[in-house]
Amino acid sequence: MKKLLSIIIVALFSVQASVVLAEGASKPKVYGKKGYVWDEMTPERTQVLKMGGDPVKGKESFRGCQGCHKADAAGVTEGVYPRLTGQHASVLIKQITEIRAGIRQNPKMLPFVEDPAISVEEIGDIAAYLNTLTTVRENGKGAEDMSAKGKKLYTDNKCSRCHGVNGEGDAAKAYPMLSAQHYDYLIREMKWIRQGVRGNSHPEMVKAISKFSQADFEAVASYLSRLPDYRTVTAAVPAAK
Ligand code: HEC
Ligand code: HEC
Repeated sequence: MKKLLSIIIVALFSVQASVVLAEGASKPKVYGKKGYVWDEMTPERTQVLKMGGDPVKGKESFRGCQGCHKADAAGVTEGVYPRLTGQHASVLIKQITEIRAGIRQNPKMLPFVEDPAISVEEIGDIAAYLNTLTTVRENGKGAEDMSAKGKKLYTDNKCSRCHGVNGEGDAAKAYPMLSAQHYDYLIREMKWIRQGVRGNSHPEMVKAISKFSQADFEAVASYLSRLPDYRTVTAAVPAAK
């Protein structure tokens, strides 16, 4: 009996030890930590991209998201919840899988996108659905129109290299569209990306905004939030993946 007990105890300890080891091995690499590589594929993201997405099913699966992102997926004008409509599927998939993997920090949303709240398959379905939506509701633009200064900052700092001249982003490279996004959300994300709080910062973007003052953040956000939905101005946006 005693022997059996000690075998069980030893077995339990080794199970625990292997769990600890597994956790250590899969610890997410976040911006600022050793070994971080922007856009490193997680096995889950590879799986979602391979599966593709069904927008009809995605509409159903999006129900659990409406409490915050609203029924039309346009978020709220104060920018607490971003607009998801028209965002590239590749970007949406990157964000959701990185939030699930603990790379992008979003504790408020995590319980709603974690397994089993949504399955791996549903990630692709939701992304395909959101990509098809256009925004009809007015987005948050900030009180003052500082577009002229914002446009100059955007041009001088070569933001368009990644986010495009019309703020359309790049579906193939998973660079987010920024046009017609809520003003306050844009400011918060730029700050979180610079500070590394968001977890999935692009090091070159951090460099591009490294010298931005509060007034610069406001001007750029004022400009971007006033740009129309990129699909109304660009005919040749690369197809969403
Ligand atoms: C409890 C509120 C809440 C719920 C429910 C919620 N989200 Fe979110 N979501 C947020 C917040 C807050 C942010 C912005 C976080 C930040 O500022 O970085 C966000 C951001 C996102 C982003 C990133 C957008 C971008 O531009 O990078 C995606 C994609 C997203 N949510 C998808 C979903 C999906 C899909 C669901 C449902 C399965 C969902 N969310 C449910 C609160 C929520
Ligand atoms: C080298 C490419 C690159 C450059 C240059 C760049 N960005 Fe970004 N930016 C990104 C990527 C990539 C993300 C999203 C991070 C991720 O998902 O990994 C992002 C995210 C953002 C976001 C948050 C969008 C969202 O939906 O959450 C804003 C706002 C933004 N960038 C503004 C700017 C501005 C303004 C500039 C110029 C001063 C700039 N970026 C320069 C690549 C770039």
